[in-house]
Amino acid sequence: MWECLRDIQIKASLFYLKQDPYHNLKHGERVVSYAMKINQSEKGNPFLVEAGAWLHQYHDHPDQLRQVLTETGLEQDVSDQLFEIVRLCRPHLISESSPIEAKIVFDADAMELMGAYGISRELACNLETRKLPYDHALTATRKVQSLFEKKLMTATGRAMARSDIRTAHQFWKNLDESESISSAHVLNQ
Ligand SMILES: [Fe+2]
Repeated sequence: MWECLRDIQIKASLFYLKQDPYHNLKHGERVVSYAMKINQSEKGNPFLVEAGAWLHQYHDHPDQLRQVLTETGLEQDVSDQLFEIVRLCRPHLISESSPIEAKIVFDADAMELMGAYGISRELACNLETRKLPYDHALTATRKVQSLFEKKLMTATGRAMARSDIRTAHQFWKNLDESESISSAHVLNQ
């Protein structure tokens, strides 16, 4: 099974190279690294966690995912478990009843949305890749950050994200305050 991991890593790396700059190979590598770190405490199946993290960005491409899994020659039950881990890597699909490996991979991906780094990465993606107007991009960033923050599934993920969450809350509070000062200034002119 472990020999398939290298194959999964190569195939996933090629897939990330075709994604936008905010979901590129570095994003894949960081999610793998977060997932393995979270798993040190959460004790999921290490193969499923690492392979699931490499494959997580296929969540919107189930046909390509199935093809990659078939090509690796993994046993059907392992392949099915990986498919499910990737499918569940969405805030509206992950739940308490999901396998621990899916929760770990979800939290690892969510770490990419936390804190100041998460705000700038998501905002830049909304502006450059999704082509949203600035106000809409900012609102969408705040919404998605709050959603992923609330959905963190493991105690380890929540602990890892704690200080980043504090930073983000402070940032949004400061932004709200500066916006209310500017609107008061406009009204007084
Ligand atoms: Fe991702």
